[in-house]
Amino acid sequence: MKNVLHVLKDGGHSVRVGKLVFCLCIEIGLKQSEAEVIARASKFHDIGKVVIPNHILTSKEPLTTSERKLIEKHVMYGLSFVSLYQGEDIEVVKAIIASHHEHWDGNGYPFKLSGEDIPLCGRIVALCDVYDALCSKRPYKEPWKLDRVIPYLVERKGTQFDPSLVDPFFRVINQVEVI
Ligand SMILES: [Fe+2]
Ligand SMILES: [Fe+2]
Repeated sequence: MKNVLHVLKDGGHSVRVGKLVFCLCIEIGLKQSEAEVIARASKFHDIGKVVIPNHILTSKEPLTTSERKLIEKHVMYGLSFVSLYQGEDIEVVKAIIASHHEHWDGNGYPFKLSGEDIPLCGRIVALCDVYDALCSKRPYKEPWKLDRVIPYLVERKGTQFDPSLVDPFFRVINQVEVI
């Protein structure tokens, strides 16, 4: 139960990611209706974490390799949770769960997709997800200031992140305050 509570407590993360995702979708020219579907779906990106033990999710220590491997399984757990459901919107949820940890250069997980083989919705969520994680307090770290976050994202433009999304994302975070 504790791990469920932890994930629920961290609901602020999903809500902030959803807001950022919506704004980034609009910034890159998607239709409002598409942006709404992707933003809503993005709130479920980490749903698989409900079955990851709480002591791992809240660990203050650097994770061991086996703990990291277990956390990475949240993608497959999440996919199994939603696998019974079908429909246009739920397909977007599935795509986001499956691809939000893929990297543009193919070094992400779990499928090691690269470039435009990664669904656009997953590339969008990947960027907003990392940004919010860096800006937030986590059990193992204090929130990072923007002057540390921005270079981190720039450095990973074209390796971790879709290079075409990073500049539009910076325009978004200049305009929008996500609480
Ligand atoms: Fe995740
Ligand atoms: Fe996340």
